[in-house]
Amino acid sequence: MKIAVIGTGNIGGTLGRRWVAAGHEVTYGTRAGTGEGPGGAPQLAVDDALAGAEVVVLAVPGGAVAEVVAANGPALGGKIVIDAANRIGEPEVNSRAAIAADAPQARYVRAFNTLGWENFADPLPGTALFFAADPSARPAAEELITAVGLEPVFAGDAAATGTVDALLPLWFALVKHNGGNRRVALRVAR
Ligand SMILES: NC(=O)c1ccc[n+]([C@@H]2O[C@H](COP(=O)([O-])OP(=O)(O)OC[C@H]3O[C@@H](n4cnc5c(N)ncnc54)[C@H](OP(=O)(O)O)[C@@H]3O)[C@@H](O)[C@H]2O)c1
Repeated sequence: MKIAVIGTGNIGGTLGRRWVAAGHEVTYGTRAGTGEGPGGAPQLAVDDALAGAEVVVLAVPGGAVAEVVAANGPALGGKIVIDAANRIGEPEVNSRAAIAADAPQARYVRAFNTLGWENFADPLPGTALFFAADPSARPAAEELITAVGLEPVFAGDAAATGTVDALLPLWFALVKHNGGNRRVALRVAR
């Protein structure tokens, strides 16, 4: 898949590395200019990274998502947009509304936001990643979650974004009561 990862920090850099290793075509979108990004994938201006991408991952601070989406709304149309950002402290931690407003044709996925990045860099066996997705984006989301080494667990369509987000305070509580160890995750027993 051709993936534009916006942000090269803990989340963007970790996911990008994993997808490069799995054989996907990753391009980072940054405001830092061109060069080589994590895992050796190219780093371009955000609009250049978006051109030609099938999947876009928003891995910027929660407060920056609205700005990025407002500046690039038409370029997101028809693409799968994975919202990995958390607007910590806001009533809604996701950016679904802002993405729907500026890019109504984007196919929304809520994923990679309920576990710390350490669980994506080196997942414990059987780690589940709960996600919500527009039905047309579900197969791609499952493939990309699997490529990171996680078990995709579908929580519902985009309307289930809040269900996924409810796991975020649970994860913070697990870290707190696990001695601060952030390499902690959930599994699904079937
Ligand atoms: N850290 C985690 O374990 C974790 C887990 C799940 C979800 N998240 C969420 O993932 C998002 C990223 O977290 P992180 O830990 O990866 O943060 P981070 O390490 O600080 O990286 C943020 C990245 O976003 C870029 N950025 C900031 N503002 C931007 C803008 N206006 N346009 C383009 N790029 C911009 C930064 O680039 P510059 O170098 O130019 O500033 C940097 O590459 C956050 O929303 C966070 O809530 C984090």
